[in-house]
Amino acid sequence: MIWLIGNKGMLGNDVEKLLKERRLTYLASDNEVDISDYKALEKFGKDKKIKWVINCAGYTKVDKAEEEIDKAFSINKDGVRNIALFSAKRQIRLIHISTDYVFDGQQDASFVYREDDKTNPINIYGKSKLAGEEEIKKILEEYFIIRTAWLYGIKGNNFVYTMLRLFKERDVVKVVEDQWGSPTYTVDVAKDILKIIEDDSVNYGIYHFTNEGAASWYEFARTIYKKAKRLGLIEGNKKIVIEPIRTEYYSTAAERPKYSVLSKEKIKREFNLKIRGWDKALDDFLVFLKENKIENI
Ligand SMILES: NC(=O)c1ccc[n+]([C@@H]2O[C@H](COP(=O)([O-])OP(=O)(O)OC[C@H]3O[C@@H](n4cnc5c(N)ncnc54)[C@H](OP(=O)(O)O)[C@@H]3O)[C@@H](O)[C@H]2O)c1
Repeated sequence: MIWLIGNKGMLGNDVEKLLKERRLTYLASDNEVDISDYKALEKFGKDKKIKWVINCAGYTKVDKAEEEIDKAFSINKDGVRNIALFSAKRQIRLIHISTDYVFDGQQDASFVYREDDKTNPINIYGKSKLAGEEEIKKILEEYFIIRTAWLYGIKGNNFVYTMLRLFKERDVVKVVEDQWGSPTYTVDVAKDILKIIEDDSVNYGIYHFTNEGAASWYEFARTIYKKAKRLGLIEGNKKIVIEPIRTEYYSTAAERPKYSVLSKEKIKREFNLKIRGWDKALDDFLVFLKENKIENI
C-alpha cells in the first residue's frame, strides 16, 4: 500500500493519475490531513498497511513565504519531520520532493549541481525545504529525496499557463532572461517516482530529477509561444513581442537562484533512466491541453 500525500497539488495530481493507471493500491490525502499535525497523520494512517509514503505536499508559495515564514517552516520542515517520524515508526519507505532552490545558483553556466554539492538557499522557501531534507536525514535511513525544478503540469498555477494567458491578454510580454533552470513536466517526475517503487529500490539517498537541458525563463517563454502558435492554442494572427528583461528590473519578494541546473547523472545511473529534453516534454503538455480543450489558462 502506498500513501500519496498532497494528491490535490500539481505534482500529486499526476502521481495519482499514474497510480490509478498502473492499478497500484494506494491511499491519498491532501490538506484535510494536515502534515504539520503529527496526530492527524497517525489518525489517518492507523491500521493501514503502508509500505511507501510519497510526499508531494508542501508550502510552495515562493514569494509569500518571505512574509509567512512560520507557515513555510511549519509545513516544509515540521510537517516533513512528522512524515519522517511516522515513516520511521512504521518502517515505511519515504519518497519526498525537494527543490533546486536549496542551492544559491551563483555558479556559471558550465556548472551542474550534483546531489552532494554545497547547499545555500537564498530565500525562505529554499531554507524551509532544506530544513525538511535535514529532518528526513536525521530521522530516516530508508528515504529518497528527489530535488526537482521549474515544474509545470495540468493542475495548478505554473509558468506555462501564465504565459498562455498573457499571450491572450497582451501584445508585449516581458520575461526574465538571466535566470536559468530546467523546465520540467510533472508527468515525467511522477513516472520517475513510480519507477523507484516499481523497482522496489533500496538505493536510498538524495537524487536530482528534471527534464534534460536548460533554458532561461525568456527562452522558455519564446518556446511556449512558438509551439502554442503552431498548435493553434493562440488564436488569430495576433503577434506577441516577447521582451527579455534582467532580474533587477523585475522585482519579486523572494530572490531566486540565477543558475540552478541539476545534474541527473546519479538518477540515470541508479535507475537506468532515459530522461527526455524539456522541449519534447513541453510538446506533450501543449498537445494534451489542445486535445483535452483545457482552457484553464
Ligand atoms: N512547483 C515547482 O516549480 C516546484 C519546483 C521544485 C520543487 N517543487 C516541490 O515539489 C512538490 C510539489 O509541488 P507542487 O508544485 O505540486 O505543489 P502544490 O501544487 O502547491 O501542491 C502542494 C499540495 O500540498 C497541500 N498542502 C499544503 N499544506 C499542507 C499541509 N499542511 N498538509 C497537507 N497538505 C498540504 C497543498 O494544499 P493547498 O493548496 O490547499 O495549500 C497542495 O494541494 C513540493 O514539495 C515542492 O516544494 C515544486
